[in-house]
Amino acid sequence: MSVERIQPRLQVLSSPQLSEAQLTELLEIEKVCYPPQTRYRLATIRGFLTWEGSLLTRAYARDRLAGFQISNLISGQLITLDVRPEFQRMGIGSAILAKTLSVMRRRGLPLVQCEIAVHNEASIRLHERFGFQALGRIQGYYEDGSDALLMALLLPGGARGKPR
Ligand SMILES: CC(C)(COP(=O)(O)OP(=O)(O)OC[C@H]1O[C@@H](n2cnc3c(N)ncnc32)[C@H](O)[C@@H]1OP(=O)(O)O)[C@@H](O)C(=O)NCCC(=O)NCCS
Repeated sequence: MSVERIQPRLQVLSSPQLSEAQLTELLEIEKVCYPPQTRYRLATIRGFLTWEGSLLTRAYARDRLAGFQISNLISGQLITLDVRPEFQRMGIGSAILAKTLSVMRRRGLPLVQCEIAVHNEASIRLHERFGFQALGRIQGYYEDGSDALLMALLLPGGARGKPR
C-alpha cells in the first residue's frame, strides 16, 4: 500500500460558473471513480452546481486536477467526493473534505450529511475518521437498486444562520 502523502493545492468556489471544459474535466474524474450505473451525468453535475448554495472544492496536485467535491452550503449536503485513482490513498480526499467542512463550519451549519454506498468501505472509513456517524440505511437509494448509508456529522458551534 502506498504511504506517499500529497499536500494538494485547494481551491473553493461558491456558486461556481464553470466553462464546458471545466465541467467535462469533473465528468472525466467521475467516470474513472464510479461504474456507469452509479456515476453522475454531465447534466446532473451541472444541475448540482447551479443550485443555490452550491460549493465546489477542487484539489490540484502535480499540475493536475486530482479530485473534487460538490456540496451545498444551505442543506449541508455532501453530494460527491471524487479522487482520481492514481491519487487515491495519499490524503487528498481527506484534504478536500477538511476544506469543505471548514467552509461549512464558518457558515454556521449545524449538521453535515451524505449518503454513501454500503459497500464503499474507503469512503465510509474516511468519513468515520472525521467523526461522521451512520444514522441508518436507505434501501434502494441508487439507480442500480443498491443501498446507501446515511452518514452525518454535527458541527459544534453551528446553527448561527439567520432565523427564517
Ligand atoms: C473515497 C475516496 C474519496 C477517498 O479519497 P482518498 O484521497 O483516497 O482518501 P485519503 O487518502 O484521504 O484516505 C483517508 C482515509 O480513508 C480511509 N481509506 C481511504 N481509501 C481506503 C481504501 N481503499 N480502503 C480502506 N480505507 C480507505 C483510510 O482510513 C484512509 O486513511 P489511511 O490511508 O491513513 O489508512 C476515493 O477513494 C475515491 O474517490 N473513491 C471513488 C469515488 C467514491 O467512492 N467517492 C465517495 C463517494 S461517497
